[in-house]
Amino acid sequence: MSGTRTPPEVRIGDLAFVLEALARDVEAEARDALARRARFTIAIPGGSVATTCFARLARLELDWTLIEFFWTDERAVAASSPDSNYAIAHALWLGPANVPAGCIHRMPGEAPDLGRAARSYALELEGVAGTPPRLDYALLGAGPDGHVASLFPGHPALLDPRPVLAIEDAPKPPPRRLTLSLPVLASAERVTIVALGKEKAHMAREALEGMVSPLPVARLAREARSCLFLLDREAGSRVERGG
Ligand code: 6PG
Repeated sequence: MSGTRTPPEVRIGDLAFVLEALARDVEAEARDALARRARFTIAIPGGSVATTCFARLARLELDWTLIEFFWTDERAVAASSPDSNYAIAHALWLGPANVPAGCIHRMPGEAPDLGRAARSYALELEGVAGTPPRLDYALLGAGPDGHVASLFPGHPALLDPRPVLAIEDAPKPPPRRLTLSLPVLASAERVTIVALGKEKAHMAREALEGMVSPLPVARLAREARSCLFLLDREAGSRVERGG
């Protein structure tokens, strides 16, 4: 990876503050990319960030025909499953905003051979975001254990340079998943990590203060070109400084 990295920016507030700060950040980055290249590429997560934030993001006034959606990770379930990250995104953001089908790059979680699905998704990603892929925006949650996307602490996938990885043994159910790799996430123009709730407080502190922490979230914070943490007051309760 190349480019100058700056320390993560941290903003802490109540949930309404987090939602508005996220909406403003995505909107500003999208408008900037659209003005320069008439295209904005974003990878989006599942979990609490999807259920809490996507309805707000769906109300952004953006030209959705110019925005290409990818996923940070997906569970190995059918697209119609309530556990599907795609299904949540479709219900709360892509459907309400009328995002055209051609802009939606769903990870095929239902594929029986996840290794093959990872390779084919890498080609799809590279077709839009280049080789190696460089997204404009990676929006992520983070687990209390410090995982991001489906990159878990101590897992060999953290050492894998390929852009998209199959995970067969995730500690968070379901165990089988697809995920973008750390190099792809870290090379996004902007990485935003949203964490809500007191069970995220230790993780947030370690990510922001433990400069040698091996946690995936800490590594991403160190390696990202431009990284923003948006924390509610509980998740930010152990972090020294707030915005
Ligand atoms: C998933 C998500 C995953 C999520 C983290 C944090 O499959 O669950 O895509 O990457 O962002 O696990 O989840 P929470 O925000 O729900 O804790």
